[in-house]
Amino acid sequence: MTKKYLVIGNPIDHSLSPELHNYWFKNNKIDAVYEKKEINKNEIEELITKIRKKEINGINVTVPFKNLVVPFLDRLTPEADITKSVNTISLENDGVVGYNTDIAGFELAIRYKKYDVNNKKILIIGAGGVVPSIIYSLKKMSPNKIFLMNRTKDKAENIKKQFKEIEILNWNQTYDMDMIINATSVGLNETEKLEIDLGKFGKNKFFYDVIYKPKETLFLKEAKKLGNQTENGKMMFIYQAHQAFFIWNKTLPKIDQEVINLVEI
Ligand code: ATR
Repeated sequence: MTKKYLVIGNPIDHSLSPELHNYWFKNNKIDAVYEKKEINKNEIEELITKIRKKEINGINVTVPFKNLVVPFLDRLTPEADITKSVNTISLENDGVVGYNTDIAGFELAIRYKKYDVNNKKILIIGAGGVVPSIIYSLKKMSPNKIFLMNRTKDKAENIKKQFKEIEILNWNQTYDMDMIINATSVGLNETEKLEIDLGKFGKNKFFYDVIYKPKETLFLKEAKKLGNQTENGKMMFIYQAHQAFFIWNKTLPKIDQEVINLVEI
């Protein structure tokens, strides 16, 4: 029987997960379909029940449900538990399990770029749902220190409760950094710009944006103009999907130029 997979979120229109997974299903001759579904909070429980009954074989979770799905799951992997963030759900022998593949997605994207995080000072701007996963991922790569800055400082302080070793900076506070990550939603709209003076970080730094659509946010455009190395969130997105595909199908599909083109639209 044709297997069924979903990505749930609100909004969900922008999601490119169906393109990636359906391409990999086809290439690996797996009889499955992957669709996107915009849902409300009160629909989560019913969808998890469908996984339990094998009416749905797997679900990817995106904004704003990565944390909200947690109470409905039987078990979390250690990484999903620490970050309280689930982006992949699968039925295993011991029940419905929540995974976090954003962590591996970020790490693999940084390694793909061949950037060495070891002993670097890293600034993360933002305190939304993806930030605990980025911090957890960075920690595995032995940075010198991780700094966090958010427009609403309280939200950054909340994340520090989970990760005591990070340091919270005031909005727009100057500091000497090696890598600066935009993890806010600013830039999704091509004309939106973070009210932060990027010039003060100096040159030859690594600016990373979690956003991949548009391909180059104003944050990355300006950083590049100032003489820095830049990278968008495209490979992180591809790798988190790749890891989810492995959890469900126990096979790692190819990431070739055609796959990258699916995301670069
Ligand atoms: P998620 O659903 O991913 O958790 P979110 O919680 O809405 O998303 O987080 C979005 C992030 O973008 C937050 O860090 C938010 O800052 P606030 O906590 O101050 O809201 C940040 N953000 C959104 N618009 C912003 C803007 N115009 N300037 C600075 N930061 C902004």
